[in-house]
Amino acid sequence: MALVALGVSGGIGAYKAVEIARGLQQRGHDVTAVMTANAQRFVGPLTFEAITKRRVAADQFAPGINADIDHIALASTIELLLVAPATADVIGKFANGIADDFLSSLHLATTAPVLVAPAMNTNMLSHAAVRANLDVLAARGVRFVEPGDGYLACGWVGRGRLADPETIVAAADGLLRGGSTWAGRSILVTAGPTCEDLDPVRFLGNRSTGRMGYAVAAEAAARGARVLLVSGPTSLPPPAGVEMTAVRSADQMHSEVLRLAFDGEVDAVVMAAAVADYTPAAGAQGVKIRKSEDDLVLELRRTPDVLAKLGARRGNAARPALVGFAAETGDAVERARAKLVRKRVDLVVANDVTEPGAGFGGDTNVATLVSEAGVEPISRRSKRDLARVILDWVEAHLGASRTTARS
Ligand code: CTP
Repeated sequence: MALVALGVSGGIGAYKAVEIARGLQQRGHDVTAVMTANAQRFVGPLTFEAITKRRVAADQFAPGINADIDHIALASTIELLLVAPATADVIGKFANGIADDFLSSLHLATTAPVLVAPAMNTNMLSHAAVRANLDVLAARGVRFVEPGDGYLACGWVGRGRLADPETIVAAADGLLRGGSTWAGRSILVTAGPTCEDLDPVRFLGNRSTGRMGYAVAAEAAARGARVLLVSGPTSLPPPAGVEMTAVRSADQMHSEVLRLAFDGEVDAVVMAAAVADYTPAAGAQGVKIRKSEDDLVLELRRTPDVLAKLGARRGNAARPALVGFAAETGDAVERARAKLVRKRVDLVVANDVTEPGAGFGGDTNVATLVSEAGVEPISRRSKRDLARVILDWVEAHLGASRTTARS
């Protein structure tokens, strides 16, 4: 189930958006309505509120709206921004980056795909200004549900009528369920910490919560990929549609990841897990270690470096693409560059966990993408948005390696 923001702008077709909301729900999606001021002249927000069971975002400056569901918060939770009907005015705002109400601000703030169903008078639709705006949006990757021909509210007969609600629902559903670029792809994602048991009650662990890896897994599943998630212990529910294997120790993660990564199907491995580098040399004691007056010295042995093993085994082959993370406390980029070479991977997502808004536990991350092509700083954003950026990078990389392989 995906959360869809349904943008409703001020055309006569606004009443049909009610049916679109229902259709999306019937296909298992959650809908939150965003109405422009003019849309509310045609249909009341109460109608959408009753159907979606969610407060309707109708006024950017309504008291309380910025406390729980401001456009930035919504922007990072939705998986699709669908605008139906989209008037010439909204299309113009989107094309020109204007953000003067909730819907147009949401459009700029979200990195989710955007699907637009235009509806307007025939002459407006064929006006050079509107055509140019539509071309700008298409070039930016916005998708459209083309308007149909028919009797228009203004009395004209021609093109400009909002597409049928069922057609719009099917287009949205298709985009959400693998009409995206990752259909037919397989990705292996690791997440969470590993726990190295000392005895039945104690372990060596780390502060990873698994959120970054789970965000990558959820995003890949939303794009239609087959997702294998190998997760250390976390308190997170597995994202919908992923095949999860739970592991505990670095050794278990090592054997599980190497078993899965080279089955011939996996296109990319994203190692977001914080794998322990050391584990008790003698293994976990069967009984609880008792304290004494003496200090306790633990002997630890190195665990396998899973990512380096993946890099060594893949060698010069194009697949699977390999992505590692580097959680550092200073010199993040330099260290990431060294890891890129040493572990023979394609991308290292580096972050300095001491920076505000970065690192373990929080909802956001600040990262730098380090690859052979260079260094790309990514400003502070939600982990889900960072997951989108990482998968876009992998997508471009896989496309480029396919071209290289052919030439
Ligand atoms: N990693 C791994 N196996 C390990 C340790 C780390 O696969 N035993 C992976 C992590 O999943 C992550 C990347 O390698 O993608 C992090 O590498 P690294 O920075 O080497 O881990 P640290 O041990 O945290 O760093 P350092 O070498 O600086 O100690």
